[in-house]
Amino acid sequence: MKRMLSGIKPTGQLTLGNYIGALKNFVNYQDEYEMYVFIANLHCITNYQEPAQLRKNLKDAVALYLACGLDPNKSVIFLQTDVKAHPELGYIMACYTYMGELNRMTQFKDKMQKGEKSMTAGLYTYPCLMAADILLYNPDYVPVGDDQKQHVELTRDIAQRFNNLYSETFTVPEPLTQKVGARIMSLQDPSKKMSKSDDGDNKGCIFLLDDLAVARKKIMSAVTDSYADVKLDKENQPGLYNLIEIASALNGRPMQDIADEFKGKGYGELKKYVADVVCDKLAEIQAKYNEIMTSGMIETVLKEGAEKASYVANKTLAKVKRKIGLEIR
Ligand code: AMP
Ligand code: TRP
Repeated sequence: MKRMLSGIKPTGQLTLGNYIGALKNFVNYQDEYEMYVFIANLHCITNYQEPAQLRKNLKDAVALYLACGLDPNKSVIFLQTDVKAHPELGYIMACYTYMGELNRMTQFKDKMQKGEKSMTAGLYTYPCLMAADILLYNPDYVPVGDDQKQHVELTRDIAQRFNNLYSETFTVPEPLTQKVGARIMSLQDPSKKMSKSDDGDNKGCIFLLDDLAVARKKIMSAVTDSYADVKLDKENQPGLYNLIEIASALNGRPMQDIADEFKGKGYGELKKYVADVVCDKLAEIQAKYNEIMTSGMIETVLKEGAEKASYVANKTLAKVKRKIGLEIR
């Protein structure tokens, strides 16, 4: 069985975009792959997080992953700080990474160019920690969003460099980016990705823990167009297309099928349909979430996950230290 690993950095609340673009796929992958999923809490603090909020986001993320169907009997689910090998190999990886490489990372370069003042050294070196996160488990695939692809490419370079220097040690992993259609757009501006907005106005973004009435309202007031004709036309009617795509991703009905049903009817009717589909899914997820939050299950899952992950990670770390010449026993 091939191995897959992914990390999530829950600096905010998980969105419907996260669910459709990432989470839902992980749930499917766990049947085909040996899956490792971890909460990248060390990555969260590359910029300041309010402690109580961070704690809540981390716990919510685990609960929501479980609520969405990630199964601790099929996947290893753990918290990054529970496996001490991450920061240790992260430091080691930094010694096999050139500053020139880190300077070229888009995420860092963009912030630098915008003249951001409060950039931490942690943010600068975080691709080295990410390389460690991955290489500790020797996965074949790493499913990531487009913005993370460059970091997986760097991980490959570091792995190859290490292997060439010390003999075969790491599996060189492949990034796995989403297929078409995995980009859910903002309900207020269908030219932008659905994500938590910076201005505090989240009308374009549905959160998995949104109150159902609030979620419904966001869909009913989604921006569409003035063609007054339900059609699948991504170019000219991107708002409608996005709504249909959301419903289709959630209930599995082909997009064309949904578009045909609402042909000749008002946009309001289509929106109501989409809102029903979304609210049904949210209700299902939230019911499980509430159950999980009060069950004590999170502690057990993380404890078992940490044990399984540590076993694999510690073996890799020991091998690395031996090869480098750090161990004298
Ligand atoms: P982020 O929250 O942006 O760090 O993304 C975490 C994961 O969710 C990545 O794998 C993204 O590809 C996915 N994701 C985030 N927003 C969306 C969206 N609007 N549509 C599809 N996938 C998304
Ligand atoms: N850097 C990723 C993000 O910002 C999260 C992450 C950390 C990750 N380590 C990882 C993803 C290892 C995949 C593999 O979303």
